[in-house]
Amino acid sequence: MAKKDIDWSNLGFSYIKTDKRYVSNFKDGAWDEGTMSTDDQITMSECACVLQYAQTIFEGLKAYTTEDGRVVCFRPDLNAERMEQSAKRLEMPVFPKERFVDAIVKTVQENIDYVPPYGSGATLYIRPFMFGSNAVIGVKPADEYQFRIFTTPVGPYFKGGAKPITIRVSDFDRAAPHGTGHIKAGLNYAMSLHAIVDAHDKGFDENMYLDPGSRTKVEETGGANFLFVTKDNKIITPKSDSILPSITRRSLMVVAKEYLGLEVEEREVLLEEIKDFAECGLCGTAAVISPVGKIVDHGKEICLPSGMDEMGPTTKKLYDTLTGIQMGRIDAPEGWIKVIQ
Ligand code: PLP
Ligand code: COI
Repeated sequence: MAKKDIDWSNLGFSYIKTDKRYVSNFKDGAWDEGTMSTDDQITMSECACVLQYAQTIFEGLKAYTTEDGRVVCFRPDLNAERMEQSAKRLEMPVFPKERFVDAIVKTVQENIDYVPPYGSGATLYIRPFMFGSNAVIGVKPADEYQFRIFTTPVGPYFKGGAKPITIRVSDFDRAAPHGTGHIKAGLNYAMSLHAIVDAHDKGFDENMYLDPGSRTKVEETGGANFLFVTKDNKIITPKSDSILPSITRRSLMVVAKEYLGLEVEEREVLLEEIKDFAECGLCGTAAVISPVGKIVDHGKEICLPSGMDEMGPTTKKLYDTLTGIQMGRIDAPEGWIKVIQ
């Protein structure tokens, strides 16, 4: 066993092919036993349901090297549960939770040389996904599916890592009321592609999506939930049926309350009240906690008091505690850490 020759500290968030991936096929109403494969290519019908009607869902989590040299991942059972919700909403078969977690562990073990070393700032991103693979031309779910897990080493999602970013209030919607915003379906991300290209073209790092019904409430960004810190140091996160229930956000609410003794609140957040907050961050597996320094609402700049130079003090405490738990420096709540090796 030898670590791959990769410049870990300079990785961005992009795909690097690793050696093995997990593959299981669903046919005649059942999942096969699954296998590890070296083949990163997929061949299927031109009329596969995923290609014609976007029947695909995915998950994202990370493997970390801890301070004492173990390799662990963070709450994979919650990814299994969320994927179950996603599968049900898109009429796809559920990949059983125990098998999901077991397959995550095996896939990381098979790619152990790609797990970035402790302290490098990089992690191994794990991407489980499932798609309808047989031909359908009338609009209906597929009968055959493939579930796969690949891994890829990654650095920070936003260039500059912990540097505050600038986002804009988007005129495009990401999810419809009573739609699919609460599940991790590829179609939600297809919806956001034009919006993110347009945001980048105009010099913004991300989009803040508002509730599509009234356009007055904060929802989330294309790939993360919001956390706000009030001037009296309370943690607020938007409550909505059309945002993804972020595992990072749910964990941070526990960290804020139980580890930092802060008051936390999940409630509707009006765009109008953001100007009164002290700090803002984006939280997610890829984003970890990325601080937001400025929010631009159609030319009107909302500058968070934490500024554009560094993370606000409370965001930093949350970041340090969460990553401390993930990297084994701080004791984790029962069941949060799955040891891989
Ligand atoms: N919201 C969206 C739209 C996402 O794509 C993600 C990433 O998974 C999140 C939020 C954060 O979720 P989690 O913390 O489970 O990674
Ligand atoms: C993740 O954080 O795992 C995601 O899926 C977000 C995506 C934008 C990379």
